[in-house]
Amino acid sequence: MRKIQMVDLTTQYEKIRGEINTEVQQVIDSTQFINGTPTKNFAKNLQDYLQVKHVIPCANGTDALQIALMANNLNESDEVITIPFTFVATVEVVALLKLKPIFIDVDPDTFNIDVDKIEEKITARTKAIIPVHLFGQSADMEKMMRIAEKNNLLVIEDTAQAIGCDYTFSDGRKQKAGTIGHIGTTSFYPTKNLGAYGDGGALVTNDDVLANKIKIICDHGSAKKYYYDSIGVNSRLDSMQAAILNVKLKYLNTYNEKRNAAASMYDERLKNMPGITIPKRNNNSTHVFHQYTIKVETGRDELKDFLQSKGIPSMIYYPVPLHLSAAYKIYGYNDGDFPVSEKIAGQVLSLPMHTELDEEQIDFICEAIKEFVGEHVIISGEII
Ligand SMILES: Cc1ncc(COP(=O)(O)O)c(C=O)c1O
Repeated sequence: MRKIQMVDLTTQYEKIRGEINTEVQQVIDSTQFINGTPTKNFAKNLQDYLQVKHVIPCANGTDALQIALMANNLNESDEVITIPFTFVATVEVVALLKLKPIFIDVDPDTFNIDVDKIEEKITARTKAIIPVHLFGQSADMEKMMRIAEKNNLLVIEDTAQAIGCDYTFSDGRKQKAGTIGHIGTTSFYPTKNLGAYGDGGALVTNDDVLANKIKIICDHGSAKKYYYDSIGVNSRLDSMQAAILNVKLKYLNTYNEKRNAAASMYDERLKNMPGITIPKRNNNSTHVFHQYTIKVETGRDELKDFLQSKGIPSMIYYPVPLHLSAAYKIYGYNDGDFPVSEKIAGQVLSLPMHTELDEEQIDFICEAIKEFVGEHVIISGEII
């Protein structure tokens, strides 16, 4: 059996080595390292894939979120609704721009924003909502867009973990996650479903005015070279990364199918295991399984150690909800404010998930979980 890894980028690369190397060599030969043809082509290719009017590549997914907020003339202390159970970048950019994060708890089964709790948190200062399509499945965008429209709020979809995911509206219409709100952002961090060989990110929008503002902000706030209309940043996707992404984009659907096949194998083997909850799949969204995250009723950390002792890596995304993280205590939230996020932070365990995982490896992982569960009888919430 091949060594089990959380992510296996080596085997994935071996299968596309020829194509990647050719494209990378072409960039080197062209010496167009910045804003070269591959970057322009990638924006167009991703537009076609997502069926969206504008794709503006940038340096990473964190920049994409920050630029999305910058493009909307928000004022200090304006409120941005988001979740505490996410990667820090979602909230970090809100804090950096001196806006105020207003947290909403997540749904215990999908880990996505509990849309029914949004309206009660809207005030005169609320300007935006940032839903995060966590682990690869879309938040409930239809209901959210209705609330946003009614309250004149901007919606920025953090799609770093869900590129390729399809959301289905109640009338049957389908749209790619990230293209439903006013702006979608994504990350091409190497381990993402569409991963570069370095950093990368993008903003997507159907709004011409926003697209233009975003392009200007990405380029130091300048529409015309050396003339500055607004304060911007330097955020570019370099040609080498774009060339790699052009190759990998062709395989994104296949990659997401492979992740789904691995997830189905996990589901089948883990679905009846006492104390283990497999990921819920929503009816209105496909899942691209950026992570395969189970909930362990009790003994999550012991299970993680047990798996590690057998050479099986696993990760805890995320061990501390952001409202309880030291840096974000300034917003005055307390223990108990977001009970679902706090509870699941102690239960979630992400198992190895990538495009190269095979049945033998999944069998081995699930047998190890079974062995752990068999040895640890769960009595009224305590493992003995
Ligand atoms: C939900 C979420 N948002 C934002 C980001 C930030 O992306 P990047 O690492 O490219 O800055 C990530 C990536 O890790 C993420 O998972």
